[in-house]
Amino acid sequence: MALWSGRFQDSANASTQHFGASLPVDKQLYAQDIAGSKAHAAMLAAQGIISSEDALAISAGLDSIKTDIEAGNFAFDINNEDIHMSIESELIRRIGDAGARLHTGRSRNDQVATDTRLYVKERATALMAANIELRSALISQAETNFNVILPGYTHLQHAQPILFSHHMLAYAWMLTRDFKRLEAARTSADANPLGAAALAGTTYPLDRFATTAKLNLARPIPNSLDAVSDRDFLLDLIYACSVSCLHLSRLCEELVLWSSTEFGFITLSDAYSTGSSIMPQKKNPDFAELIRGKSGRVVGDLVALMMTLKSLPLAYNKDLQEDKEGAIDAANTLEDCYMCATGMISTMQVNAGAMFAQAKKGYLAATDVADYLAKKGMPFRHAHEAVGHLVLLCEQRKCDLEDLSLEDFKAESELFEADIVDALNLEAIVAARNTYGGTAHEAVRAQLQEIQAAIQQDKSLL
Ligand code: ARG
Repeated sequence: MALWSGRFQDSANASTQHFGASLPVDKQLYAQDIAGSKAHAAMLAAQGIISSEDALAISAGLDSIKTDIEAGNFAFDINNEDIHMSIESELIRRIGDAGARLHTGRSRNDQVATDTRLYVKERATALMAANIELRSALISQAETNFNVILPGYTHLQHAQPILFSHHMLAYAWMLTRDFKRLEAARTSADANPLGAAALAGTTYPLDRFATTAKLNLARPIPNSLDAVSDRDFLLDLIYACSVSCLHLSRLCEELVLWSSTEFGFITLSDAYSTGSSIMPQKKNPDFAELIRGKSGRVVGDLVALMMTLKSLPLAYNKDLQEDKEGAIDAANTLEDCYMCATGMISTMQVNAGAMFAQAKKGYLAATDVADYLAKKGMPFRHAHEAVGHLVLLCEQRKCDLEDLSLEDFKAESELFEADIVDALNLEAIVAARNTYGGTAHEAVRAQLQEIQAAIQQDKSLL
């Protein structure tokens, strides 16, 4: 019989029992549930609501249950709907009446909200640590291949030459923002619902500030209805995971492209590639593809919880039991993606020659040739058109801008002099983009320092 069986004459039917249970998911929250119960029991004793002997027995009983769960010696029974009832009923079985006093002034509604918040704080911190690892891997590839030049793209067409280090750091900055979103999710979870009881608070003289301090939470939630029904912190967590997964999907899409025969910009290590069961020559970027694909699932978790919360009346409703599975999935998925991407990035080989060879194609110097004319006084729009003609000439001759003679340039404008060759040099083109945030070596070096300082600061938040 369930712990709430007093007013029932029949037990639930076996299939509804199964349908209504959340144990398969929430048993992952056993440690948080035990921490919450210990804090509650200690507070009950301090307030004279239960005896200190009972509180000690509860604490010891909960510790022994924890030991057994961790040793795999705890027989979970689906007839105990969730982790809260599983632990409480086992506690009562082990220590009797003292255990039966634990739930004084508490409901599973404030209990589950507390457990979930403690869980989110822990998971968000783990994700923040994994985020730093991936950023560090991107940064060290940027450092190792600092001067490598590749074509920068817009519309996936060659645009202007950029430093590979600059490209890697663009992803590191995305992850820096993701870190902040994860931290914000942790902050939004950092409040104590315990003491809200079922929905309205309780007649016992609970000290909500004491359990708040014991659980290392920032503050008690000021409204008992809100305390038991707020799941914003889970939305915040899944949103943070979703955005980071989207960023990883962009990174991995580039890794897939770059490792193709057409690009050949990188070679993924064998440890992060798979073969084909039929085509012996294949080396596939499976893990980059899988990370790209996982983003769909995590965004799905976000949409699912949003829809679950939509139109829910106050306060607790059983719909809320659906909140944990997707949130746990989103956190686990992102953590796996971070770990896999970290390994993949740190072991990939950068093919500088292939990148540079592509940067020489596609008239990447065109903007700089136009700037050359504009700096000599020609209005930029006219310069743009003149260089357009030169590109057309190259297309007709099937050559590059570098292959044109000074006469060819002069035929388009008398402003061209012999120093036009400097405007065509890729190194010089990159080095000239020296504004803050630009791709010039000097600017990227400053950027590296800035992001390293950001990482140092973020480490202090773990
Ligand atoms: N298993 C429930 C959940 O995860 C615990 C709270 C249940 N409360 C209730 N009144 N049925 O949401």
